[in-house]
Amino acid sequence: MQMIKFYVFLTLIADSCMSFPKSYQARFVSWNSKGSIVDFRVRFLGRERRLNGSVIISEDLDSKRFTMSAETYSDVSGGGDYKLMPFSMPHQSICQAAKNYGIYFRATLKYGVNTDIPFESNPCPIPKGNYYMKNASIETDDWPYIMPRGYFKGVAKFKKDNKVVGTQEVVIFIEDRTP
Ligand SMILES: *[C@@H]1O[C@H](CO)[C@@H](O)[C@H](O)[C@H]1NC(C)=O
Ligand SMILES: *[C@@H]1O[C@H](CO)[C@@H](O)[C@H](O)[C@H]1NC(C)=O
Repeated sequence: MQMIKFYVFLTLIADSCMSFPKSYQARFVSWNSKGSIVDFRVRFLGRERRLNGSVIISEDLDSKRFTMSAETYSDVSGGGDYKLMPFSMPHQSICQAAKNYGIYFRATLKYGVNTDIPFESNPCPIPKGNYYMKNASIETDDWPYIMPRGYFKGVAKFKKDNKVVGTQEVVIFIEDRTP
């Protein structure tokens, strides 16, 4: 398992250097926000289900007390049988996570264009505030070359002082890119 994780990690690093259109496209299906410290309040607009809403961060998220981890799951058939994928985020400080994994969200949520979430400058602590996200469709240019088709779920767990204080569960749908 460690070997697989390490290999995927290297693949992700290599991929992250290459921003190209991929053979697949993705759209949002659902976003389930639980917990009070980081609370996403979103809805989806139009047939493309563009992300719209806000995220309310109610405390400054410093790198000592706040940590997170994430796992991903794939359901190719749509039958609800999600299988754990080797794309995961090991438990780390929230600042480190934003720095290491921000690349996957940067094209979708562009600072100053459709959000004021400060991904670009990587502030630490991440300041509390009410940030907006407007009409954002998923841009996969910075994502891995190969992704499974079908339903793909990311589950991020947030901890404060090593106690779980919230989870974000996001489901997207991945399909072959239409020209
Ligand atoms: C989209 O989100 C923005 C920012 O949070 C909000 O002002 C606007 O009312 C939302 N639009 C819709 C249609 O929900
Ligand atoms: C949202 O984005 C779509 C596609 O880019 C565009 O057609 C639409 O006008 C936008 N809506 C708003 C409210 O900005």
